Amino acid sequence: MEPIALQLNQIEKKFAGVHALKNMHFTLQQGEVHGLLGENGAGKSTLIKIIGGIYKPDHGEIRINGKNVTINNIKEAQAYGINVIHQEIVLVPHISIYENIFLGREPINKWGLKDHKKMISKAQIMMASMDLSIDVLTPVYKLTIAQQQLVEIVKAISFNVRILIMDEPTSSLTEKEVEQLFVMIKKLKEHNVSIIYISHRMDELFAITDQISVIRDGEYVDTVKTSQTHIDELVKMMVGRSLNNYYQRNYQQSNDVILSVENLTRNGVFSNINFQLKKGEILGFSGLMGAGRSEIMRAIFGVDKYDSGTIYFENKPILIRCPQDAIDLGIALVPEDRKKEGLVLNNSIGFNLSLTVLKQFIHGCFVNHKQREKIIQNYITKLNIKTPSANKIVGELSGGNQQKVVIAKWLATSPKLIILDEPTRGIDIGAKAEIYKIIDELCANGIAIIMISSELPEIINMCDRVCVVANGEIQGELSQTELSQEKIMKLATGRA
Ligand SMILES: Nc1ncnc2c1ncn2[C@@H]1O[C@H](COP(=O)(O)OP(=O)(O)OP(=O)(O)O)[C@@H](O)[C@H]1O
Ligand SMILES: [Mg+2]
Repeated sequence: MEPIALQLNQIEKKFAGVHALKNMHFTLQQGEVHGLLGENGAGKSTLIKIIGGIYKPDHGEIRINGKNVTINNIKEAQAYGINVIHQEIVLVPHISIYENIFLGREPINKWGLKDHKKMISKAQIMMASMDLSIDVLTPVYKLTIAQQQLVEIVKAISFNVRILIMDEPTSSLTEKEVEQLFVMIKKLKEHNVSIIYISHRMDELFAITDQISVIRDGEYVDTVKTSQTHIDELVKMMVGRSLNNYYQRNYQQSNDVILSVENLTRNGVFSNINFQLKKGEILGFSGLMGAGRSEIMRAIFGVDKYDSGTIYFENKPILIRCPQDAIDLGIALVPEDRKKEGLVLNNSIGFNLSLTVLKQFIHGCFVNHKQREKIIQNYITKLNIKTPSANKIVGELSGGNQQKVVIAKWLATSPKLIILDEPTRGIDIGAKAEIYKIIDELCANGIAIIMISSELPEIINMCDRVCVVANGEIQGELSQTELSQEKIMKLATGRA
């Protein structure tokens, strides 16, 4: 048995109206990768925020290398060698990558000024060690979320780290970047660094962890050796019952084309995009990070402009100048970056859900409150949003539950076409199955769906057809019977 790096005993944490952690236990051995698994809202992020010095527990004991400690803030946690990559990206958007990496601990030159030269060259080395070829002078707001996440990882390991905690580090990475991350984790492990790894992606937990601890409703359930467990056992521990049929699809036959895109081009971003989408169909868009998938959809939805090409909706050429034009036609886009584009975080669930559907319950000057409540409650139940009430502030929900609010918000607009950009990112396995069921029901009702996803099993099991994008172009289209991880990856990486 390896020596114990960190031990938590009887940890308890309450927020207003929510008992986030009750009698929580956790033991982390030196040099192990320890998975932490639980449904959305189970308390995972709260637990690691306690370890990382962001929250103080109401009760309980934290032991590091056998000694009782209190961790009052992030700096103290870092002094113990604890570093956390949080679920929400916390980089400062308007300063460069290198300034973010060294924020608050900038080296000083002989004139007593911040040594930018040194920071830049050090940052370049760190980025290169992760195979990242982004210029370190780039301001963070210009990066995609996946790139920001990689910068967060580089930043975290640049401290003298003994315990590295990753809260869904791969949620916006594609297969190739996940592989890079795993190589890095293995290197850290060789240096006896202990790692806590939170993910809803079971395949990752099986690939990288030595042990997995499951928590449910703020309580410790059990710890198992990864080599001695299997997915069904974990799901049962997590949800309290067995789940089967994750993917549900009743394929529809329809010849009604709802959307037709011809030669759509945005100079320097994507070019000559051609595809058709029928009612009741799910068209997948697959590809590596930065391939241009989200950009194509943003242009169709009117967020970005395009330079040439034609979009037909219900057989008529249309001009979409802004998202409202698209919404008026019956198009919805559930964006990838839900924090920035999807939610008003300091407002309630009810408020966020009603934003897009105001029309449905405002009649003249009268707001039909009863109907409003009904619609809202319906979605909270349907998507199993974990909250004491519809009045809870969205920013206080767990990460996965925030995602569900965004999805609910767009489903509630009753669109004809829904574009889902990474619909199940950060969502637990039980809720994922619920979302797949809803998507399938939408198709059965003739709604057309475009789904961008980096999770290949999701793309393969849910889509009728898949367009694979690389370098801003569609490299190929695969029908449902042709779909395989291998074929998609070949097209995505240009090895076809
Ligand atoms: N600052 C806060 N104020 C009020 N309630 C909070 C706060 N932070 C978390 N909670 C609540 O504590 C519970 C646990 O949340 P936590 O974020 O730890 O879940 P999680 O396991 O990380 O879920 P996810 O998989 O969705 O990220 C949830 O019910 C959440 O709403
Ligand atoms: Mg969380």
